Amino acid sequence: MSDEMSNEIKQPLAKVSDIIFIRFQLRDIEAQAEYLDDFGMIAVEKTDTAIFYRGTGSDAYIYAAEKGESDAFLAAGYEVDTLEELQALATAAGVEIEAGDAHMGGQMVRLKDPDGLGVEVYHGVNKSASIDENVPVLNSGKQKNRLNETQRFGSGADEWDLDEAGNMKYALPSSVMRLGHTAINVKDGPCSIKWYYEMLGMIVSDNIITPEGDVGGAFIRCDNGDMPSDHHTLNVVGLPPEAEPFHGTFGHAGFEMEKSLDDLMAGHFHMKTSGKYVHEWGIGRHLLGSQLYDYWRDSAGFILEHWTDGDLLTADKPPQNVPFIDVIKGQYGPIPHSSFNMSLPSEAVEEFRQAVPGLVDMFIKGPSS
Ligand SMILES: [Fe+2]
Repeated sequence: MSDEMSNEIKQPLAKVSDIIFIRFQLRDIEAQAEYLDDFGMIAVEKTDTAIFYRGTGSDAYIYAAEKGESDAFLAAGYEVDTLEELQALATAAGVEIEAGDAHMGGQMVRLKDPDGLGVEVYHGVNKSASIDENVPVLNSGKQKNRLNETQRFGSGADEWDLDEAGNMKYALPSSVMRLGHTAINVKDGPCSIKWYYEMLGMIVSDNIITPEGDVGGAFIRCDNGDMPSDHHTLNVVGLPPEAEPFHGTFGHAGFEMEKSLDDLMAGHFHMKTSGKYVHEWGIGRHLLGSQLYDYWRDSAGFILEHWTDGDLLTADKPPQNVPFIDVIKGQYGPIPHSSFNMSLPSEAVEEFRQAVPGLVDMFIKGPSS
């Protein structure tokens, strides 16, 4: 970012400490409840009009949806440490401080980002006791940590079963712990990066540089001072003018696994052998943030990610500039489809991939890092 632009940037009104949940409006919340069960979340409340799901971590819920006439992303929820920060945001946005819902509790404000995407900021929320699970002890070539003990995930091999058609089904889902980040598609990357800094105090881990040399987007994180934060809590993706229908849309949300790669792999085979869902991207290891990842479309076509083993940064780690190709070129793994980060009904995905084969072209012909 140029000095000229940084001079215009105001000090943050608040510093969010983490993201908590995502909220949707969906036509079929029963189908989504089935998906979230398969994805590895735990139901907190299911009614005819709303669903709330948690992970094994301490957040009251990490996914919420209410029944409505259309499928839409409503908001991402973040947390601040002090009431003063909530008051500063309310004053700046000209909104009232409201009470949180029965599950989340605390107090909150509702904001809109520059593209009109919902942002809810909370203070004093309820926390649940974490659901403690054993963390597996892993052996590597050089580090032998597990001796005279077998490595058993779940029930060993007892999760495999045959369905009536003779297909192998893997019963055990992932164990989702918490929401780690979202990705959003925006009209103006630098404008959004500035807004999330000035309102929520989020700082840049990696600026995404376009082939023309501009900042097109960024991976940004929470400023928790000396306390480490995830490499990114939000991935801002600036889209060109011709992608206007996708300006101001949900890209994906990434949920961290309770345990390790086993969780990711078990979840992959559970989702895959269920035969019910569209696989979007994975399994691989990202370059930016380093997570092992696996992306699956939900019942309404929104993309949710399982991830594990991401990078953690303290606030003093300076921002890096990285070429756009690094976003889609993992350390290893498949090349993403052009439909990645595009919210589409699952039945429209294949047609979109055929019509827009851009990412493969970019990977082969585009600028190298
Ligand atoms: Fe992600």
